Amino acid sequence: MIECIIDCDPGIDDALALIFASKLRTLKIKAITTVFGNSTVENTSLNALKILDLIQRTDIRVYRGSASPIIKNYRFPAYNYLDDEINPHGANGLANIVLPQPTQKLSESNAIDLIINTILENPKRISIIAIGPLTNIAIALLKSPEIAQSIKEIIIMGGAIKVQGNINKFSEFNIWSDAEAAKIVFNMMSDKIILVPLDVTRQIIFKNVEIFNKNNLYNKFLYNILNFYSTFHLNNCGFFGSILHDPFAVGVAENRDYCDIREIPLDVEIEDRNKYGKVFINLEKDKENKKIKTCLNISLKNIEKFLNYFEKKLLNF
Ligand code: BDR
Ligand code: CA
Repeated sequence: MIECIIDCDPGIDDALALIFASKLRTLKIKAITTVFGNSTVENTSLNALKILDLIQRTDIRVYRGSASPIIKNYRFPAYNYLDDEINPHGANGLANIVLPQPTQKLSESNAIDLIINTILENPKRISIIAIGPLTNIAIALLKSPEIAQSIKEIIIMGGAIKVQGNINKFSEFNIWSDAEAAKIVFNMMSDKIILVPLDVTRQIIFKNVEIFNKNNLYNKFLYNILNFYSTFHLNNCGFFGSILHDPFAVGVAENRDYCDIREIPLDVEIEDRNKYGKVFINLEKDKENKKIKTCLNISLKNIEKFLNYFEKKLLNF
């Protein structure tokens, strides 16, 4: 059994990841922590609560985390969530769909303390699945560095190693959203990371939207968010389909055999304004023995295998 905390910014693919994760028997979700990213932290937290209601999993608590990056916004203008032209998730993070108000309240404790306490109380047992900007994890590490050794592992969706980014040529959204935080996490727990970058996630494209065209809230929600996300990709990338970045990170948490994993000395660019947030190979990290397990390739067979598994799990409500 994998005991995990999911640190997320729902977000359409985060929502899909949460629903998918909740259906895996091998995964025990100890808590959900939220961060700004695809929308404001107010929205991402509310979205997490609403999704738990939708899937009748209000036994899982939600802890609100960081509202902004550690340093970035002092140097660059803040990201504009409200611009539907550039935000694939819609201004509210969930395709502008209005779900019923949640029955559960946010936990009174915050995400950072929840992360620290859960890891320290369960030495070498907790995995974090980080599918948003890494701000909460970095602050938790700075506040309590011993969690780096106490955590079991951290699966991070982020970065573009050999491929182009999705923010610009160089950078991927989660790392670019708080590159200083990513640098801290890469530096302080390199041996615990499994990185799931765009190199693999961009190949995981779900197109079978019509199977959710049914008349109940759960299916309608899936149908609508998948259509919204697919249409964004049609308008901006030339294909109709949903890239399953975050659900695939959950898939890797359960089964790392999907990918070819290499240990690479990775670092994060924070100085060069044009390449801010670029994940790059830094041979100095090699000398320090700070290599990161990185999913670099996936076969067509394994892409199919994951997509079928994902579909089967989501259909089962
Ligand atoms: C990542 O960015 C976000 O928009 C998605 O939710 C995913 O976590 C992909 O680059
Ligand atoms: Ca995300």
